[in-house]
Amino acid sequence: MKRILITGALGQIGTELTMYLRKQYGKSNVIASSRRKRGDENFFETGPFEILNVNDVQGIADICKKYKINQIIHLAAILSAKAEDNPQEAYKINMNGTYNVLEVAREGGIAVFTPSSIAAFGAGTPVDNTPQDTIQRPNTMYGVTKVAGELLCDYYYWKFGVDTRGVRFPGIISYKTLPGGGTTDYAVHIFYEALKNKKYTSFIKAGTFMDMMYMPDALKAIHDLMEANPDKLRYRNAFNVTAMSFEPEMLAAEIKKHIPEFEMSYDVDPVRQSIADSWPNSLDDSCARQEWGWCPKYDLSSMTIDMLHKLAEKLKIKQ
Ligand code: SER
Repeated sequence: MKRILITGALGQIGTELTMYLRKQYGKSNVIASSRRKRGDENFFETGPFEILNVNDVQGIADICKKYKINQIIHLAAILSAKAEDNPQEAYKINMNGTYNVLEVAREGGIAVFTPSSIAAFGAGTPVDNTPQDTIQRPNTMYGVTKVAGELLCDYYYWKFGVDTRGVRFPGIISYKTLPGGGTTDYAVHIFYEALKNKKYTSFIKAGTFMDMMYMPDALKAIHDLMEANPDKLRYRNAFNVTAMSFEPEMLAAEIKKHIPEFEMSYDVDPVRQSIADSWPNSLDDSCARQEWGWCPKYDLSSMTIDMLHKLAEKLKIKQ
């Protein structure tokens, strides 16, 4: 029987993953946690919720004991752009948080899923078809904590036998909960503005390619990797995964197919642009495909259709 603790459960991925896993494993077997109680009240009626700061190692241990947790999905983290505003705080949450989760997992024999990111790459990394194993010299605090997290998860597996697993997520596109302070967020904001105002001012420059993925594929990636046969996993942590690679003009053109009046303009944010410029254009995710059958369902065109449809419903906008 799975007993899962999710940290950062009120974030973009966490809110949807909590509901997804509650459907798979039962409401009371998936414990959502976050630093603060905030957001949609209905969420808290769907199953257990605990206030948890990942800097509080005893707090993590107590919750794991209380609910007999055997798997932690550790999502609590400060995203790339926000981390550049306060690198010290980002280090504390991203780095110490991961370390604390791994320590509790080591003591309790608990499996851990931790997402890494395209941000784990940087200067010197081949930008096209970026291999699974390659140069990783990120120049953001978020990226530094992601590379260190990958290595730490590997270490806890080899040294202590902790069942650690993880993927390098690209930008995640979704309509339920907004992302909080990432560089890829433009690819979410654009849909809200396209539906509401038929125009969008992008903070990322035309021509800047980044990998992206639609939320249903991201949820499936987490679930499939955690369910994968460990004997088949040559890698464990930090699998490259991607579903599509595009730049702002391509996304705008796709939206225009459904909202012909849509107009795109640019007001480039130098901080987020320089982060985007340091990341790959597209990842090679063949290891994930071979080792645990990774195969995304949505591409740019099918994601755009579904996003516009579901978000219009949510915003009560007639299309
Ligand atoms: N979406 C994340 C960010 O932009 C990348 O992992 O920070």
